[in-house]
Amino acid sequence: VISQDIEAILKQMTLEEKVGQMTQITLDVITKGENVFVSDEPVELDPALLEEAIKKYKIGSVLNTANNRARTTEKWNQLISQIQELALKELKAPVLYGVDAIHGTTYTAGATFFPQQIGQAATWNRELTRQAAEVCAYETRASSIPWDFSPVLDLGRDARWARMWETFGEDVYLVSEMGKQVIDGYEGANNDISNPTKVASCLKHYLGYSSVSGKDRTPAFIPDIELRERYLVPFQKAIDAGAHTVMINSGIINGTPVHASHKLVTQILKEELGFQGLAVTDWADIENLHNRDKIAATQKEAVKLAINAGIDMSMVPYNFDFCKHLVELVNEGEVSMERIDDAVRRILKVKKALGLFETPVMDLKEYPEFGSEKSEQIAYNAALESITLLKNDKNVLPLSKGTKVLVTGPNANSMRTLNGGWTYSWQGEKVSEFAEGYNTILEAVQNHVGKNNVVYKAGVEYKMDGLYHEEQNINISAAVRAARNVDVILLCAGENTYTEKPGDLHDLHISENQEKLAKALAATGKPVVLILNEGRPRLISKFEDKMDAIVQTYLPGNFGADALTDLLYGKENFSGKLPYTYPKYPNSLVTYDMKPSEASKTMEGMYNYGGGPDVQYAFGHGLSYTTYEYNGLKVTETADNNFEIAVTVKNTGKRKGKEVVQLYISDLYATITPDLKRLRGFEKIELEAGASQEVKFTISPRDIAFVNADLNWVTEKGEFLINIGDQTATFSVAEDYIFNNNLSM
Ligand code: IFM
Repeated sequence: VISQDIEAILKQMTLEEKVGQMTQITLDVITKGENVFVSDEPVELDPALLEEAIKKYKIGSVLNTANNRARTTEKWNQLISQIQELALKELKAPVLYGVDAIHGTTYTAGATFFPQQIGQAATWNRELTRQAAEVCAYETRASSIPWDFSPVLDLGRDARWARMWETFGEDVYLVSEMGKQVIDGYEGANNDISNPTKVASCLKHYLGYSSVSGKDRTPAFIPDIELRERYLVPFQKAIDAGAHTVMINSGIINGTPVHASHKLVTQILKEELGFQGLAVTDWADIENLHNRDKIAATQKEAVKLAINAGIDMSMVPYNFDFCKHLVELVNEGEVSMERIDDAVRRILKVKKALGLFETPVMDLKEYPEFGSEKSEQIAYNAALESITLLKNDKNVLPLSKGTKVLVTGPNANSMRTLNGGWTYSWQGEKVSEFAEGYNTILEAVQNHVGKNNVVYKAGVEYKMDGLYHEEQNINISAAVRAARNVDVILLCAGENTYTEKPGDLHDLHISENQEKLAKALAATGKPVVLILNEGRPRLISKFEDKMDAIVQTYLPGNFGADALTDLLYGKENFSGKLPYTYPKYPNSLVTYDMKPSEASKTMEGMYNYGGGPDVQYAFGHGLSYTTYEYNGLKVTETADNNFEIAVTVKNTGKRKGKEVVQLYISDLYATITPDLKRLRGFEKIELEAGASQEVKFTISPRDIAFVNADLNWVTEKGEFLINIGDQTATFSVAEDYIFNNNLSM
């Protein structure tokens, strides 16, 4: 057993060993064969390459999984065990293995897949989100992987962005609340990650990732006020919740790549926010400072900039140049030994906290709950509570079991599109190989109502290999012909899977072929239920009025189709709410917390200019088979200057349901133009038909603060407007509060 005294280890380590600790390579650097990500051959380590990595370069971390059929948990554990055995023989610390298990364990057949983050946000259910994270941690750790590159705490404020679905949506408060639940689920309430059912979380991508255009990794200009008031808050809250690691944004903020920003990485993240854990780069992002971002004339210069900015570990991922350069830089006095020791100390602390020195490989026998029914039930519940009813004209839904339906559209018979990217593989293209036992929408509907009641014609199909493609195999007329013999059409539309750059779009409108299919089906006169299965809200304004009902499923995971079917046929009730504003027009991409001038359709005292942001569906929107009435909103100021807000919610319909009670507050006047309104609280409650419940919130002056021109969090005296459901009330803050740079909310 090697020593776990971190200071003692540091003293014994050579510079080369320290630099090795700071290096992370991808698995395929040490495996046999050409490309383990696409190969169907069982993945095997190449002993010579493994030796080179561990013995020569003293590598301290590995990431990634392989795309192949031999990916059972047992095999995976054997592979990790080979790596750890050599590391513990040759090095003074075990290897830290990391993976993107962002909605379930991404590499092992039989693992449980939950809705992707955007769907989890749509549940507005904190408890479910925590439970999903607990299962994900358990199943990831069962495979001897103790580090999960998740959650994404970026804000999904631009629907064109390819990674919108990896976020918890557009709102700071919702993202922060859900993020905290994930940290609790991954790391445990007391962050004891030596617990063999827990993993170290990784908050990503710090800070301001792709927030201002539809392209992945776009340079962004975000003023400090905005960075602090919105983008920093979810990270701050997750760090306060004890998260162990952070991944840095690949992009450029205000002209400086974040990987080279001493201000963002050291001053704000480590010093101001007090982050004690390790900061890892994103994929090849130190090299990118030279190759792509052009702020370093050489690769060596890039290493110097990044490490001096405060980066602790480099996801290299394919070569060992980083090690050579960093050793030279230290020897030349360009990077201090203090900086190296600080980075290695942070890395060793995480390894020690994970218990890796004692138990680097797990015993699968200790994980009887892997892929259990209990875990699958949580995935089903999360899907059920995420799926959002956007429109239900003339109560087309729920359907009765005897209804004859046409199931059509490119998303009707695909497990791949239900799961999205980062499922078994980066772009999600391997899902169908592992999807046995789970149902597509077509299969779930057939199971529910019997094959005799279901006709299937795709109409439009995706090309399912490799990277993101729109459609091939278009046969709209076959679908239209089939529609003539049914009562209702279930049109399953949306997107194929993608993540990162391959998912960049030229146009947010849903594809032309799907639009044509929708219009042609509507022209048959049969009711059409549009079922959206997509990672971002693709524009549907050209045919939305022709659809009788619209359901957003997001990317609901392996049980999404079963949950959807139970909702469509009324076995269960809808309770999902949009975690983003669903836009209507390409040039009106707004968030609900816009400035008042943006919301206005007129210019005061002048002509009516029109053109206010006409959106398809508002943030927080979602219908149900029952109705709710809000009454008696009241505010009481407490002795300690907080405000107690209470409202009564009644289920006025005929069936049980879950309602998300959303508290919005508007600061009416402030020295910085205030947002129209801001979400400041929510509770999801369950009510039997006819039942009522009082829901209470406590709001402190800190909860309604904003960042002023001096970059201080302040609450200025004055009047505030509360809005819950259709109820409004006001309250006044009697004095000014300054919270200085204390970012804690
Ligand atoms: O964690 C991811 C990140 O989100 C995008 N680039 C690659 C990383 C590791 O797979």
